[in-house]
Amino acid sequence: MAALIHKILNANEPAPNLMDYRAMRATFSWDIACAEQARLPYDRLNIAFEAVDRWVATGQGEVAALRWLGKNGERQDFSYTELARLSNRFANSLEQLGIGPGDRVCILAGRIPELYITALGTLKAGAVFCPLFSAFGPEPVRVRLVKSQARVLVTTTLLYQRKIREQRNNLPDLEHILLTDSDGSEPGTHSFHTLLETGPDHRSPPRTRPEDWALLHFTSGTTGIPKGAIHVHQAVAAHQLTGRWVLDLRPGDIYWCTADPGWVTGVSYGIIAPFVNGATLVVDEAEFDARRWYAILDRERVNVWYTAPTAIRMLMKAGAEAVQGHDLSALRFMASVGEPLNPEAVTWSLATLGRPFHDTWWQTETGAIMIANYRVLDIRPGSMGQPLPGIEAAIVRRRPGGGVDRLEPGEEGELALRAGWPSMFRSYLDDEERYQQCFADGWYLSGDLAICDIDGYFWFVGRNDDVIKTSGHLIGPFEVENVLMEHPAVAEAGMIGKPDEFAGQIVKAFVALKPSYVPSDALRKELLGFARTRLGPAVAPRELEFIPDLPKTRSGKIMRRLLRARELGLPLGDVSTLEGENPEEPDV
Ligand code: WT7
Repeated sequence: MAALIHKILNANEPAPNLMDYRAMRATFSWDIACAEQARLPYDRLNIAFEAVDRWVATGQGEVAALRWLGKNGERQDFSYTELARLSNRFANSLEQLGIGPGDRVCILAGRIPELYITALGTLKAGAVFCPLFSAFGPEPVRVRLVKSQARVLVTTTLLYQRKIREQRNNLPDLEHILLTDSDGSEPGTHSFHTLLETGPDHRSPPRTRPEDWALLHFTSGTTGIPKGAIHVHQAVAAHQLTGRWVLDLRPGDIYWCTADPGWVTGVSYGIIAPFVNGATLVVDEAEFDARRWYAILDRERVNVWYTAPTAIRMLMKAGAEAVQGHDLSALRFMASVGEPLNPEAVTWSLATLGRPFHDTWWQTETGAIMIANYRVLDIRPGSMGQPLPGIEAAIVRRRPGGGVDRLEPGEEGELALRAGWPSMFRSYLDDEERYQQCFADGWYLSGDLAICDIDGYFWFVGRNDDVIKTSGHLIGPFEVENVLMEHPAVAEAGMIGKPDEFAGQIVKAFVALKPSYVPSDALRKELLGFARTRLGPAVAPRELEFIPDLPKTRSGKIMRRLLRARELGLPLGDVSTLEGENPEEPDV
């Protein structure tokens, strides 16, 4: 185990927002945090109002809210006042289109300013904001548009042409497509900017209530199509608090979150948390590049930086040369999320960047950071840290007949959180049964396996299901296998996560061919291309191997665990339910 990292607070820096972790844990209540939020009359609460308009109301409207760095070198600031006006216009435009409370508004775009205007305007209109990752292919986009019943989609001309146009007739709920760069030549679409100009920039305060739906984030499970996790406006209390206590954000900070808003981190911490804490959010439109990143940290004088293990490992690969000549002295706090942060990455960051990365743990379902390493506490490299004040975390084991047992320190089990924090998801869209399955005895069961040590630090072990993380993105086997099975040559397909030095895991597919097909390199390439065209680069398998049959239980479920064990040369473990292996055993 890497050595403990002791914190010595630097007297030249502002004191941490969370000074006494233990005292805060002992006294904190969410009621107090939620009461702090109520800035609208009649018990109304709105994430976008908390994020931008309240700063205008208190005279801080001229502060830069969003600093957008375009991939071609553009640099554009939007003040809180400007964002308030633009989001008012968008909310008014939505209303003119007949879009209102509860309606879903999706966006499929890269990190462009219109995305932030769409998010805030949608929330002000009382509609539900649902981001789709721009590197999804047509199939994941279609599935999510159908499931969300989106009435509006904001996108670019190119993404529309590549991913939507051909399937538009199969999307009956989708009434309005707003193109951010429309030249008027795409039939059946509107120009986002023309619409924005027609909306007045004034609006009365939003009428949403704390428990009204605000955000819809899709997330994958082992089976079935992705689940739509619903978050409500009250979640903003958790965004604000975690922004303040975990990320140590304060008004005037320059803050950079590298996550894409196509995923939950890019919304909770790449839009909401920095704005409700009055920071300036840096958004870089471009993809990862070590030198560009160091230049941004230096030139923008970034104070707080939230990124992911895959990116950190790429920075490690770029070596200390890449950072040379860059002044990172403005950095006060660095944090990481999304996949295990290896201890070497923590010690490397301390040695090379002069500060350690602080691991944080949470999920789409939790809506906000639940377990973290805090600025004020020592770090045990490799550990995810300790629960947020207000969050009770435990390691449990599910009892076969229902309910859970709490386990002792050092024992491996499922990571569970006592239900009831503000940013907890309120349902899976149209899937109450799956929602209920996430809870037992008042605990939310995360699906992650972990250990809690004697001092209360949590250590990630793995998942208890077959979803995988690649470059920090959660991928479920169902979507990948389904698309492969659509190819005429494929009889069966199974997906696993294969360990990868940088991405953590990559998607690897195993395929059994139909009898009239023979494995060949050409067919392998064809299948990889087929999957990539439909799924997009973010989801498609990077490797594909032919095997005669996939291991299955006698009830026909693919045993991905065995595919994984074979790939890694591990012992096969319990194979008693494997098809043909143990005919005496009862079926499962
Ligand atoms: C899954 C949730 C994290 C919010 C955005 C992604 C894995 C997350 C860590 C961490 C090890 C982590 C878990 C979790 N994960 N943080 N610090 N160490 N694993 O949310 O896409 O719903 O993914 O990401 O497996 O369940 P998500």
